Amino acid sequence: MEIDLNKLPSRDAHDLLTSAIIPRPIAWVSSVNAEGHINLAPFSFFTGITWSPATLGFSVVNRPDGSRKDTIRNIEETRNFVVNMVSQDLVSRMIETSSAFPYGTNEADEANIPLIQSTIVAAPRVKESRVAFECTLERIITIGKGAYAGNLVLGSILLMHIKDEVLEAGKTVDPTKFDVIGRLSGGTRFCTVRSLFEIGTEDAKER
Ligand SMILES: Cc1cc2nc3c(=O)[nH]c(=O)nc-3n(C[C@H](O)[C@H](O)[C@H](O)COP(=O)(O)O)c2cc1C
Repeated sequence: MEIDLNKLPSRDAHDLLTSAIIPRPIAWVSSVNAEGHINLAPFSFFTGITWSPATLGFSVVNRPDGSRKDTIRNIEETRNFVVNMVSQDLVSRMIETSSAFPYGTNEADEANIPLIQSTIVAAPRVKESRVAFECTLERIITIGKGAYAGNLVLGSILLMHIKDEVLEAGKTVDPTKFDVIGRLSGGTRFCTVRSLFEIGTEDAKER
């Protein structure tokens, strides 16, 4: 079967694409507007971009009426944000923060998620996240127009927070202790990283 995604009804294209590009990690993004109102929302079109300079990216699509989501408005206004990673213990509260609250609502308060002050940026971070990245805005690349147009946010990582208990040999994050979740297709399917295998030579680690 061959499918032209651009000819499908928008909802079907979304469902098909997001069922095939899996698993997707979740950027749980805390941001703040010029008045200091805090926002927290999840985005699974998310990945690392490069490490020198350390950069990550996530995409915020416009709402069906073409308006921009609060996260994008805040990041354009204050040019900083935190990407908090989501482990399984946080999943229900993370989902609560994806509801469309009126602009200026603090979703972290609504979902009972303690936030703490970041070290460098104005946006606070999720206290319980085992890993979090303080970022400044590198640039936003907009793809498409109006409804569902994508706004790819590239963030320069200023500081990475890692809870001591998830560190492996003091150098990397232990995937088992991290217990991070991934998003699969549909609104309700997620996965964990609990089935690991290793393959390849020592050599591969260098690449
Ligand atoms: C697990 C999960 C992943 C999501 N991923 C995205 C995404 O990649 N891009 C996007 O625009 N919306 C995504 N959403 C929907 C947003 O979280 C939702 O529109 C939210 O209300 C945006 O909040 P804001 O207006 O406060 O920025 C996702 C929702 C959930 C629950």
